[in-house]
Amino acid sequence: MGKSTSVVVAGVVGLVFAAGVAVAAEKDIKVPRVPAAELAKAKEMKSPLKPTPDVLAKGKAIFEGKGTCFTCHGNSGKGDGPAGAALDPSPRDFTNPQFHTIRTEGEMFWVVKNGSPGTGMISYNPAMITDEEAWQAIAYERSLGGAK
Ligand code: HEC
Repeated sequence: MGKSTSVVVAGVVGLVFAAGVAVAAEKDIKVPRVPAAELAKAKEMKSPLKPTPDVLAKGKAIFEGKGTCFTCHGNSGKGDGPAGAALDPSPRDFTNPQFHTIRTEGEMFWVVKNGSPGTGMISYNPAMITDEEAWQAIAYERSLGGAK
């Protein structure tokens, strides 16, 4: 191995190491985010919208636009947005199908309205996004995990 090659290899290893240290893990998906007193009600809450192509397109526009979800959750929805890198726990990875089998859409709606206590997930009031827009964004997030 030439001198320059080993410098490059060391650089790449250094970068991978730095990324591994900087990016925090997600919080356990099995632990509900909604407080116990409100959990049953949140779990039962159903979206008024069906995930039609129109609803998913509107949800994508919210996610990537005025909702600013992408800044933390990433354009891909994997939780790798630029503003998410510094957050611990890391933003949720919506492309994980297992997450969507554990979390109901009602619980997701609760989190969008109230935030996720003790994390960087902010709460959205109706001046930021309306209830309908929140449901559209959630339909889009669920579609990233292959949910129908
Ligand atoms: C400032 C960064 C940030 C922004 C902006 C953001 N999120 Fe999050 N989000 C997070 C973090 C961090 C978590 C992980 C919280 C946790 O593990 O409890 C999260 C988690 C979630 C969860 C899952 C919570 C659970 O039950 O595990 C949902 C749903 C969610 N976000 C929806 C959205 C939507 C919809 C938007 C845009 C309208 C959005 N987020 C914008 C940081 C953000």
